[in-house]
Amino acid sequence: MENETNSRLWPTVLVDINNGFEKSQVLFVTTELQLYDLLATHPNGMTANEIASRKELNLEATERILDFVAGIKLIKKDFKSESKTAIYKNLPQIATFLQSSTPNSMVGAIMHASRIKYPLYQHLMTIIKTGNHTEAYKHAFGFDVTLENNIYKSDIYSATFLQFMHQISSITSPGVAKTFDLSSFCEICDLGGGSGALAYALASEYPDATVTVFDLAYAVEEAKKITPDDTQRQRVKFVVGDIFQDEFPPANLYTFARIIHDWEDEKVHQLLQRTFKYLKSGGAVLIAEHLLNETKTGPLETLFLNMNMMVEMSGRERTETEYRQLLEQHGFVDFQCKSVGGHGSFHTMIAKKP
Ligand SMILES: C[S@@+](CC[C@H](N)C(=O)[O-])C[C@H]1O[C@@H](n2cnc3c(N)ncnc32)[C@H](O)[C@@H]1O
Repeated sequence: MENETNSRLWPTVLVDINNGFEKSQVLFVTTELQLYDLLATHPNGMTANEIASRKELNLEATERILDFVAGIKLIKKDFKSESKTAIYKNLPQIATFLQSSTPNSMVGAIMHASRIKYPLYQHLMTIIKTGNHTEAYKHAFGFDVTLENNIYKSDIYSATFLQFMHQISSITSPGVAKTFDLSSFCEICDLGGGSGALAYALASEYPDATVTVFDLAYAVEEAKKITPDDTQRQRVKFVVGDIFQDEFPPANLYTFARIIHDWEDEKVHQLLQRTFKYLKSGGAVLIAEHLLNETKTGPLETLFLNMNMMVEMSGRERTETEYRQLLEQHGFVDFQCKSVGGHGSFHTMIAKKP
């Protein structure tokens, strides 16, 4: 009925795109309010009144939002048969992603979208006109982005961002560690390794290797709070440093996971040049990134990231051919590229210093 009406009025695809931000905002607000954590502690459900008083919200507005959230199938609305009172419950298959401390939690990603991406996207018109995000950062956060004053060194990016990266990276890193046989590398350094999720996966997959995470001071400080309490931590070391300025820790394999896409070509050339310089012959570089198809019209998840890299960072997503060319331009050989099974367009690429 709804589809029929929409197709007679406006195409559903356009209506969905036009109203998409409303769904996002409802997701942001209910996640910020920790609604799904609250409902998880009440498996028999809660009334709008109970939720509104626990969270100190306006009752009518709470009811309206809860009905919307039930309508878009993030929670369930039931009725107590005797009293006909409405109760709201988590849907187990979705709530696990919306609670803060589940292993596959998306809360970090949602907070990042709510607090960083959404305010910046409101300035997309300025970004298109100027070709950069300088004005967007200034208007959204009062932050002056310059080459030296990059966002990774600001308070905007910090704990929330690292948490978000850790959640994604913990899911994809075991696959990245296994894509190629890396057992011949005894010293691995994960450049811009953030929370250490990839480093722990590498240490677990290659018990004979030592693994170093090299990242900025804020990241190393935050990463220490997330350290898993098991034996892998013995072989994972954190070193504070700047990948553009400081000497790389020694290694015969340097890894970059979700790093190259953050930067424009000029910066990527600096990174690859430095990597080549610090490697001995026979050493290798491994890059893990989402790939664009060769026409740059898909897949959709990489297109979203490609927009984000323009709005948030000054980077871009690239095709396999572009990565191969970048690496070969800096003297790397034997380029190989494989998808990280089960993670869409996420790929691992490796190339050697001859
Ligand atoms: C997109 S995150 C990727 C984190 C991690 N590799 C992962 O896949 O989860 C980018 C990382 O690069 C780090 N980073 C940014 N600029 C850096 C710099 N100049 N020197 C060292 N690390 C840097 C950030 O602190 C952050 O941890």
